[in-house]
Amino acid sequence: MVNNKEAYRTVDFDYWAHKETLSEQEKFLIETYLDRRGKTVEAGTAGGRIVLEMQKLGFTSLYGFDYVPEFVEQAKQRDSTNSISFAVEDATALNYDDGFFDQLVYLQQIICCIEDDLGRLSAFKEAYRTLRKGGTALFSFLNFDYRARKPAYLPYLIYIRILRQLGNSPWSLQYIPRLKLGGKLNFNALTDKQPYMYWYKLEEAYQSLKAANFEIVGVGSDFQLSQRKILPSWETVRLEPIQGMLYFICKK
Ligand SMILES: C[S@@+](CC[C@H](N)C(=O)[O-])C[C@H]1O[C@@H](n2cnc3c(N)ncnc32)[C@H](O)[C@@H]1O
Repeated sequence: MVNNKEAYRTVDFDYWAHKETLSEQEKFLIETYLDRRGKTVEAGTAGGRIVLEMQKLGFTSLYGFDYVPEFVEQAKQRDSTNSISFAVEDATALNYDDGFFDQLVYLQQIICCIEDDLGRLSAFKEAYRTLRKGGTALFSFLNFDYRARKPAYLPYLIYIRILRQLGNSPWSLQYIPRLKLGGKLNFNALTDKQPYMYWYKLEEAYQSLKAANFEIVGVGSDFQLSQRKILPSWETVRLEPIQGMLYFICKK
């Protein structure tokens, strides 16, 4: 298996096609920062989990896209109201018009699935392009620094670094093999096999969003969200523990 798209199409398909309910973090962000009347898209929707749950919360204008056509079919079938607009789209080159959406949901680390710098850059630009002026975007990212600090993972990362040095691998250590696939342990990760996810450093995620012209109005990690709070500025982030996934609330 070579990349994330292939993994989602095969071994990871059932897990994401049938998933239900929102995490506490997702529910908090969606209820706090998004307007139920806004035209809202979920990027990398898989079986449509987030938009289907948003429909239950009273959101009325919903869209979802995914680059795996089988997921889009599955999402359409799960939408018994037939009112959510699902499409096969790649986040790096979208067919939606400029300013088409009022709100973007880029949660579950969809940007981290993109295995090259240019692709991630394009995805940020496309997100910004398709959001209307004044609109809101929610992003989440895998947190490299937190993972690298955790005693349970550090030896694994050191081992991967040595393997890559020995094999002259071009991949930076921020590309980490998927430790789970289809909800189960992925033993291929022990031999540094792809697919990889790209794990962001906090400042790098912040700078990438700024470079795409987003205004960042809130930042936090799972630690803050578990207390149902978001930090208002970059300066305040440095004073707090940053643990688990990274979350950004952005405006255009
Ligand atoms: C971790 S799953 C999340 C699924 C869904 N958002 C959820 O939370 O239940 C990531 C999804 O993003 C999709 N994806 C990854 N990269 C993508 C890209 N470049 N364009 C469109 N979809 C992508 C995958 O096919 C997969 O369905």
